[in-house]
Amino acid sequence: MRIVVTRRVPEAALVELRALGEVVVSDADRPLTQEELQEAVAGASAIVSMLHDRIDGAVADAAGPQLRVVANVAVGYDNIDVPALVERGVVVTNTPDVLTDATADLTFGLLLALTRRIAEGDRLLRARKPWSFHLGFMLGSGLQGKTLGIIGPGQIGKAVARRAEAFGMRVVYSGRSQPKEDLLRVADVVSLHCPLTPETRHLIDAKALSAMKHTAFLINTTRGPVVDESALADALLANEIAGAGLDVFEREPEVEPRLLELNNVVLTPHLGSATVETRTEMALLAARNVAAVLNGGEPVNPVHR
Ligand code: GLV
Ligand code: GLV
Repeated sequence: MRIVVTRRVPEAALVELRALGEVVVSDADRPLTQEELQEAVAGASAIVSMLHDRIDGAVADAAGPQLRVVANVAVGYDNIDVPALVERGVVVTNTPDVLTDATADLTFGLLLALTRRIAEGDRLLRARKPWSFHLGFMLGSGLQGKTLGIIGPGQIGKAVARRAEAFGMRVVYSGRSQPKEDLLRVADVVSLHCPLTPETRHLIDAKALSAMKHTAFLINTTRGPVVDESALADALLANEIAGAGLDVFEREPEVEPRLLELNNVVLTPHLGSATVETRTEMALLAARNVAAVLNGGEPVNPVHR
């Protein structure tokens, strides 16, 4: 059986996959184009995919009727046309839970870097600008007694809430049942943890941004298109909100150029789950999902019934 891996993954996962069949790993140090992807998957029984791969019916057809599983090495699977794959009898799996703490940690890192101006201070020193300590120098915002609004109270949202409570913050949630408008009105920090779906695309648009406090911060570690990035730049330039911490972008790897110019924006290149430990766990979990399906068992993390 042929197992196609679309990008380099930790060796431990390859060891598990090689026990199942012939493993082919893309040696391009970049995402494959759609054409290259279709070529690469030909004859595959399993595809181990990354969040930058668009896996749709055409890719499944290019693989062939023997394709049985697509194991996405990510918790989000907005890059996969799940109905098209299910229709073709292909199981789709993701990697929940193992990246919850790493992503919550990075969310808090962005929150602290933003509210305490850590990235801005680092830039100031590297620019070798003169400075001296004084009581009004580079003041940030404290977190204690402030309200964190979590949009998407899943595993990651709850893990961020636990950290916020340890910092003395009050936490409010919005999900399917609690309205987002109430949260936007009261939150000092709004953090996004909902998956990207047709309903959450541009959930944070110009209207939502104008509903936020002028002193509030926005953090996004889920998927870029949940925020209208151009509207966000407008809102920041108009001082409608106080700042933004972004790990994900609407058109990765591109970043809205106006955001790059702003000191009250902290940016990281999609690093939410990027620790050695977590990335190894994610790849191993994807391999375990492939093994379960190819061995005729139940997948560990199916994203559909
Ligand atoms: C990363 O963004 C993931 O969905 O795992
Ligand atoms: C998404 O999977 C979340 O846990 O919030």
